[in-house]
Amino acid sequence: MLNKHNLVFLGPPGAGKGTIAQLLARDSGLVHISTGDIFRNEIGSGTELGKKARGYVDSGGLVPDDLVSEMVGARLSRPDCTPGFILDGFPRTLNQAGLLKPALCRIGKKLDCVVNFEAPYDLLVKRLTARIICSKCVTNYNRLFSPPQKDGVCDLCQGALYSRPDDSLDTAIDRLRVYKEQTEPLIEYYRDEGILVSVDGSQSKEITYPMVLEVLR
Ligand code: AP5
Ligand code: MG
Repeated sequence: MLNKHNLVFLGPPGAGKGTIAQLLARDSGLVHISTGDIFRNEIGSGTELGKKARGYVDSGGLVPDDLVSEMVGARLSRPDCTPGFILDGFPRTLNQAGLLKPALCRIGKKLDCVVNFEAPYDLLVKRLTARIICSKCVTNYNRLFSPPQKDGVCDLCQGALYSRPDDSLDTAIDRLRVYKEQTEPLIEYYRDEGILVSVDGSQSKEITYPMVLEVLR
């Protein structure tokens, strides 16, 4: 179905990386690796990694590069990544992009495509502050754009829906600033590598998802 299997989803908070990655993983069998989801899970379980990451995640700052890179390297070397993967939220700094290369080399892989999701600032803020997530299966909903059928309950698994603490207006704005300063330079970096494709992430997911499939064929 797809010609490109080793993927990075890039773009600001709220651009739809996680939403589209969930659909793509469901339909393609590629493994969805969201560093944000991994950190939230570790924090929720009270692990050592979760304790180290908590302050950064809660405040909207970035977890140190060595910590996140080591975690991603270990995740990528698991056998379920053999058919391919979607890295969602990693890399997020030029240094992380540099660390990803040897990690992929060690498992005999290289990136096929970096999909860059673009959306205007006001829409990002609107989406983030209205996002709700299933506490059991991590499916994404939105109070404004894609509400669940029953208030507060996941359509798929009946889990309880919650708002991420870092989706408060102030922290969302901080995350967008951190993105601009530390992550946006990756657009140029991957454009220079010749593997960047930008898609319009401001449309509904019913429009954006087929566009993403098209660029991966
Ligand atoms: P992370 O979880 O990666 O958060 P983020 O980058 O801020 O991205 P979001 O999840 O907010 O945005 P998204 O693009 O996935 O949007 P979504 O699809 O949900 O990271 C959280 C924290 O972990 C970081 O702040 C940091 O502390 C730490 N961290 C993670 N990775 C790290 C790294 N590599 N290095 C260091 N630290 C790291 O969509 C948002 C909303 O909009 C949803 O409600 C959705 O339903 C709706 N929506 C999405 N697309 C559409 C659409 N097309 N139409 C209508 N509504 C839509
Ligand atoms: Mg996400």
